[in-house]
Amino acid sequence: MSDLVQLTKNGDIAVITINNPPVNALSPGVPEGIGEAIEQISKDPGVRAAVLIGGGRTFIAGADIKEFEKMTSGKTERGAGLLPLLLKIENSTKPVVVAIHGNAFGGGLEIAMSGHYRVASPDAQVGQPEVKLGIIPGAAGTQRLPRLAGVEKAVEMCVEGKPVKAPDAVKYGIVDRLIEGDLLAGAIAFAREVAAKPAPKTRERNGKLGTAEQNTPIFAAARETTRTKQRGFMAPLAAIEAIEAATKLPFEQGCEKEKELFVKCLFSDQSKALIHVFFGEREVAKIPDIPKETPLIPVNKAAVAGAGTMGGGIAMVFANAGIPVLLKDADQAALDRGLANIQKNYASSVKRGRFTQQFVDECLKRIQPTLSFDGFSDADMVIEAVFEGMALKKEVFTELDRVCKSGAILASNTSTLNIDEIASATSRPESVIGTHFFSPANVMRLLEIVRGRATSKEVIATCMQLSKKLGKIGVLVGNCRGFVGNRMFGPYRREAQFLVEEGASVEAVDKALVDYGMAMGPLATGDLAGLDVGWRIRKEYRHLEKPGIRQPFAEDRLCEMGRYGQKTGAGWYKYDENRKPSGDPEVAELVRKWTTEAKISQRQIPAEEIVDRCIYALVNEGARILEEGYALRAVDIDIIYLNGYGFPAYRGGPMWYADTVGLKNVYDRVLEFQKQHGEIWEPAPLLKQLAEQGKKFADFAKEQGVAASKP
Ligand code: 3HC
Ligand code: NAI
Repeated sequence: MSDLVQLTKNGDIAVITINNPPVNALSPGVPEGIGEAIEQISKDPGVRAAVLIGGGRTFIAGADIKEFEKMTSGKTERGAGLLPLLLKIENSTKPVVVAIHGNAFGGGLEIAMSGHYRVASPDAQVGQPEVKLGIIPGAAGTQRLPRLAGVEKAVEMCVEGKPVKAPDAVKYGIVDRLIEGDLLAGAIAFAREVAAKPAPKTRERNGKLGTAEQNTPIFAAARETTRTKQRGFMAPLAAIEAIEAATKLPFEQGCEKEKELFVKCLFSDQSKALIHVFFGEREVAKIPDIPKETPLIPVNKAAVAGAGTMGGGIAMVFANAGIPVLLKDADQAALDRGLANIQKNYASSVKRGRFTQQFVDECLKRIQPTLSFDGFSDADMVIEAVFEGMALKKEVFTELDRVCKSGAILASNTSTLNIDEIASATSRPESVIGTHFFSPANVMRLLEIVRGRATSKEVIATCMQLSKKLGKIGVLVGNCRGFVGNRMFGPYRREAQFLVEEGASVEAVDKALVDYGMAMGPLATGDLAGLDVGWRIRKEYRHLEKPGIRQPFAEDRLCEMGRYGQKTGAGWYKYDENRKPSGDPEVAELVRKWTTEAKISQRQIPAEEIVDRCIYALVNEGARILEEGYALRAVDIDIIYLNGYGFPAYRGGPMWYADTVGLKNVYDRVLEFQKQHGEIWEPAPLLKQLAEQGKKFADFAKEQGVAASKP
């Protein structure tokens, strides 16, 4: 039998244990091993029932996702899948009790449902998370789950992909019994109880499949919600279709339908992109020159300087993670405003059911307001979030250097300033780092961790590790203007403005990008963040721009008129008192007037060109960043864009998207734009090089493994 599966006996009960660390994925050898064990049990007269359990920290986390990658890239053949094994388990005349701890996800839950009974530790979870990988359950999950949990619950689980905790799984009929204490001992005792009973087959349990009258509205509502909440994703709709088949077709035909849909999803660009995202989210945590064993600095107490929009949100992030935090502002009025905002945000989380009142009360107790830096002396980490301005930042860091204990992490939330210059205000630049949270800090998952020239490995490793504890995804970036995300966002938004100045309507530009999958259009995003923010930055850095390069001007003119976006009731759009946007004919009129004066010829611009110009502007800048070493890998850029900028996950991020389109195609289009619009579209040297070599951004990252610190 395969090394990955062991068969032992406890008296008359056989115990099949899967040992494929870390998560018992169903890699080659595991299904075969389970199959052999079932065959041996059937032949062994001394065995009356069996327990199937996972060794190590979990039951089975699902199919081996790496195998999917090999299959879709043509490196391996598509096998028979898990279905024959599942039938073998279900057809066993000796009852199979599946014992679940940790997670039974995807193929893991599908195996569990082919067993005759399921028992679980109270903290275990079960789920069909396949949609998150752009696929649907492929081993009869869409056929067996509705038979156990009912159609509505099965739709919810397969469409949203969220796990269900064991006590709820009992309630829904997925798990038969919770086992407190030793799971294996409890499962063996349970197996003895049921050994003499007939073994129930899930595929024959049709009682929960409902009638057409009951199911039609369930499927209609699920399709409707999916189209808005998972706009553009194909797998959730396929999952609904497969479950619908379970309610209309005999089991075997339902499985056929599921298989057809599964294969269609698996070989789609969406699934390849989402699998890239799954591994990418794990890869960004790996920094080549920072070994796993780098000592971490314990962060048990934090302090935040500045209780404004960002500081307040950051304090909430620490409080939510159970870390007490001091929150300082310069004067009582600002501090009171900050605290009132925090309370308002928490109240709305309770109202929406995200947090309980009790949890919020505990969090609020962890946030201690102050007007002085005195208490900062025992903080393990300080995050500065005062106004954006080098002089003020340096003043604050000089003060932090004076009061903070040795070894404390001194982090800045700056979005545009040079971390090394900020660090120079201290006597300990090795302790200084950028932690660039995104607004609203308590909601957005992205945390750009900015490595300064002197930042120590311990400080970087701690911030990377801490990001997980804070519920964020930390991505290490280098210290360049705008870091990675905002540096790329500049050319993207600039292109959107050019398009308006060349004749596209504001609405057409935003619609093209929303149809592409972006959470919001670039112009509406500007209105949300405040057009004045970019305007001020542009004014400050104008002297750094190369003379003679075309610059957009309409947005600056809108700012000069006081049209800052949502906060002033008007920007590119106008807004009612509930901040609901509508197109503004005045803007269209003004832009026409300004562009006539500037002699910019106007034309109809197709949606495809709008998308190409905006997205390839991102890609071209991303290529420069990658080549300059400010991002470690192309996938790091992708993860930043997916988690901080509303880029559609099913396209895998801008760099993956470019790889999918083919870098030669992207390069040729960039050359076309260069011909039409000049120097601003000069292709990044790396884009040119990879396109000419027939390579991908992903290849470059693997070969280079560059560090994000730039001298
Ligand atoms: N296949 C291959 N590798 C997997 C894997 C899987 N299903 N699940 C996890 N891994 C790997 C991770 O890539 C990581 O590798 P690394 O250490 O080299 O980076 C390692 O296992 C540990 O994973 P995590 O860091 O994610 O560990 P956590 O403890 O934080 O989380 C988990 C564990 C909740 C199981 C999480 O890994 C997870 O959600 N995994 C994916 C679950 C999933 O999507 N299952 C469905 C697969 S598709 C399927 O089953 C199709 C079926 O219907 C036929
Ligand atoms: P804000 O204007 O909302 O808040 C700044 C706060 O700092 C004010 O409450 C002010 O009273 C306080 N402050 C000023 N001097 C202080 C001092 N010496 N000690 C303590 N508090 C002091 O600003 P916001 O938007 O929160 O930005 C803060 C930082 O975060 C800036 O560096 C900004 O660039 C960055 N940032 C902002 C984002 C945003 O979307 N607003 C996103 C990411 C980063």
